[in-house]
Amino acid sequence: MAFDRIFLDELSARNDIVDVVSQYVPLKKSGANYFGLCPFHNEKSPSFSVSADKQIFHCFGCGAGGGVITFVMKAEGLEFPDAVRFLAARCGIEVPEQGEDERKAARHRERLYALCKDAGRFFYDTLWLPENRSVQQYFLNRGLHRRIMNKFGLGYAPDSFHALMDAMAAKGYTREELLDAGLVSRNEKGRVYDRFRNRVMFPIIDVRGNVIAFGGRVMDDSKPKYLNSPETPIFHKSRNLFALNFSKTTRSDYFILAEGYMDVIALHQAGFDSAVASLGTSLTEDQARMIARHTGQIVISYDADGAGQAAAQRAIDILKKCDLQVKVLKIPGAKDPDEFLREKGADAFRNLIERSENHNAYRIEQIAAKYDLEDDEARVQFLKDAARMLATIDSSVEREVYAGRAAKMAGVTPEAMAVEVKRELTIRLKKRKAAERKEIRSPVNMAQPKDKTLAYTDIKSAKAEEGVLRLIFSDQKLLAGLQKELPAEWFSAPILRKIYEHAHALDEHGQIVGIAQFEGELTESEMAHLTNVLSASTPAAEQRQALTDYINTIRLQRVKDGTLAEAGEDPLLTFGRIKKQNAGGQMI
Ligand code: CTP
Ligand code: MN
Repeated sequence: MAFDRIFLDELSARNDIVDVVSQYVPLKKSGANYFGLCPFHNEKSPSFSVSADKQIFHCFGCGAGGGVITFVMKAEGLEFPDAVRFLAARCGIEVPEQGEDERKAARHRERLYALCKDAGRFFYDTLWLPENRSVQQYFLNRGLHRRIMNKFGLGYAPDSFHALMDAMAAKGYTREELLDAGLVSRNEKGRVYDRFRNRVMFPIIDVRGNVIAFGGRVMDDSKPKYLNSPETPIFHKSRNLFALNFSKTTRSDYFILAEGYMDVIALHQAGFDSAVASLGTSLTEDQARMIARHTGQIVISYDADGAGQAAAQRAIDILKKCDLQVKVLKIPGAKDPDEFLREKGADAFRNLIERSENHNAYRIEQIAAKYDLEDDEARVQFLKDAARMLATIDSSVEREVYAGRAAKMAGVTPEAMAVEVKRELTIRLKKRKAAERKEIRSPVNMAQPKDKTLAYTDIKSAKAEEGVLRLIFSDQKLLAGLQKELPAEWFSAPILRKIYEHAHALDEHGQIVGIAQFEGELTESEMAHLTNVLSASTPAAEQRQALTDYINTIRLQRVKDGTLAEAGEDPLLTFGRIKKQNAGGQMI
């Protein structure tokens, strides 16, 4: 791990988890703990708790949990090292030098940022060479003004296999750096050449203003229309939104989500300075969270074609999860916002936004579009279909409003519609109850970690292993000499073994064994699992006896699965002997 444990302890000590969490969620004290609404999933009653003593958070609803660093990672969408820097800045302490590997990786990333910036500069300069007037004209013909072109740093990659490479080599960048930044490609023969050739260039800039990648468009009808940078150490497509670096400072109380580069640039030019784009792929949860960090309302403004509308439907679900108010705009008579703006102007677009519909209305219309509402049979089908969708709306008031609207569209009374919706609600409720019952009744499900990649193969053993962990976290002294009695190899669950081993390592270095000491060692979901395990109560008395019982259970399981035979002894004999000892409850 990159950071020194002592520094991380200091960092956690200086950033009280109750203070930090309170900046995101209002907390109420109740007994030893604080409670609030979980910021990581949608809920109406608080199942999110923060323990001031243990300096951890834990959500009983979604299972999220960990220490203060994990909380910041999740809340701010940061990687571990950035969350550490975030907290260090918050309490005004310096981040000590990291290990050599990290320093190297960080230096490499810095080089790639610098290289992308220089490449952007090169493309920009090339665009404005007198010989490239026709390229400039391409943008002007598409209605862009020079000012907005400069703001977005638009450029041109010349029709050459090495122009960029040469220019960057002259600035001291290596071939490896060019490859890593995704600016050049290598063919089967090992020859390296410029990735972007004869394309107009759109720099992709991260929220902090670094150029991290490019999209390049052909100027005719050849394919592919757009070519984008691949994933690189500084560019993760699913974690970036085009133009968020500008939109984050908007005064508008809503964001506009479009599909393409040109849509967003045209929107900004027309004064809609809160437009961002997910760049053609379907919106990811990370991107939705980034939007939710800056606004509470979003207007989806995707292309008018089928693909765009289907993508809008998917985006609605993802955005709703982040508690955003979602509206969907329909673009009449044009294929996308860019084209609409050019043909009808900014005022007309503003009008569309004002008339854009709540996502529920939008969905009902999408359903209605499937049916011929003049036909009686089809109207009945529409009502059923709409009722199923309406039953998914949580708020009863909202449900009634849109049920009324659907009724009107189908030409039936609101009462008839209400009956249909009620029937669907009852079905949903029954299904949910049945699912809950099933989950409670199934001990295997209950016992398994939420994250399927951590699944237990031996539940009985794993439960005992969990018990051991609970004991050593509640009383570190129990670790002394424990490795002899219970070697780490006896653990059946890799995640629990990893925790057990790290606990020993901490203890041997004279450090505290607490959840916070595992941050940086475990992944986010492993961390959540650890908090889940530790949130079950530990027996207050007879800890030593409880520990022995757990160890015996684990040993027995290891004998059963053949990993363990007492030296020279028949496994069956060992089995019988341990079983007898267990029954007697005596120490081995
Ligand atoms: N896209 C892509 N690769 C393609 C096609 C599209 O990465 N081969 C992405 C681009 O980010 C593009 C977005 O998907 O901006 C939307 O695609 P599309 O609607 O086809 O393009 P427009 O944005 O309308 O582009 P233009 O107006 O320049 O034709
Ligand atoms: Mn377009």
